[in-house]
Amino acid sequence: MRLLRLFANPIAVRFFSRPLCILKMAKDISYFELNTGAKIPSVGLGTWQAEPGVVGHAVEAAIKSGYRHIDCARIYGNEKEIGVVLKNLLDGGVVKREELFITSKLWCTDQAPEDVPVASSHTLQDLQLEYVDLYLIHWPVRMKKGSVGFKPENLATTDIPGTWKAMEALKDSGKARAIGVSNFSVKKLGDLLNVARIPPAVNQVECHPVWQQAKLREFCKSKGVHLSGYSPLGSPGSSGMKGEVLKHPVVIDIAEKLGKTPAQVALRWGLQMGHSVLPKSTKESRVKENFDVFGWSIPDDLLVKFSEIQQQERLIKGTAFVHETMGQYKTLQELWDGEI
Ligand code: A2P
Repeated sequence: MRLLRLFANPIAVRFFSRPLCILKMAKDISYFELNTGAKIPSVGLGTWQAEPGVVGHAVEAAIKSGYRHIDCARIYGNEKEIGVVLKNLLDGGVVKREELFITSKLWCTDQAPEDVPVASSHTLQDLQLEYVDLYLIHWPVRMKKGSVGFKPENLATTDIPGTWKAMEALKDSGKARAIGVSNFSVKKLGDLLNVARIPPAVNQVECHPVWQQAKLREFCKSKGVHLSGYSPLGSPGSSGMKGEVLKHPVVIDIAEKLGKTPAQVALRWGLQMGHSVLPKSTKESRVKENFDVFGWSIPDDLLVKFSEIQQQERLIKGTAFVHETMGQYKTLQELWDGEI
């Protein structure tokens, strides 16, 4: 009764609801819910360009620091080493399988429906897992089976509906708990949604403060597809890319105001925009730094400043996937349906 009276008092309500609200936000943002009902941890360790020999240490450091989400792909060439580390951590009781969220991706050479279960089995074998939590079509691009490298003659014509049926069968079999796509434009995602029996749970795309994906984000939200952001720091280490995220004056200014690093601010922006982020690092100190994005937030008056950031061009263009005469796409315009 006393409690009831307390909550009938508007001042008491304001006093109690505010901290509760902050707590809820800090807690809830540690994961997002997929259209399968599964929870995807909001920060995942990226493993692209994490070379064999160092990737294992990074994954171990990440899981021991609290990461529960590891983003892998067969084409990264490091799933075997990740698998050894996962097995050690699982066998050693450091983490339970059901606490982990492991993603992998179907490479372009394996898009023929009969090759999808074979490719996924290789990945499961390398990762030493019974299932992945999420399996993605890596690109809306097909390459000839068994072809190696990014030569134009390797390019082939896509049949995304056919590949997707095989992805759906994989989900039915339980070997992938959720299925999705990567590098799909609004149009390509829309076309897939029109034919899918099981809608994609995720579209993993490049996303960071200088490539914010406003249109795609809105579309994904309207269709219940979770957007997951790769290169959330603008891939500062990649040669030939001029990702200016961590050097952007708005990001630096907000970081200084909040006493955080530019990387933490870029990642926290992503979380507050509603997408998961997949920062890659093989340095233990940065792995930890990139996970220290909970329990604080960018206040609204600073968050709006991100909308003032002039959008540049995408960093990961997929130039090797377009050719005048070979494959599916003659131009980058066709690959991205104008979103470049
Ligand atoms: P390293 O692996 O040596 O730490 P993205 O995830 O956007 O692709 O960015 C990955 C690149 O950013 C890698 O070169 C990585 O280098 C670097 N990086 C990762 N975390 C940080 C950080 N907190 N501060 C600066 N650079 C970082």
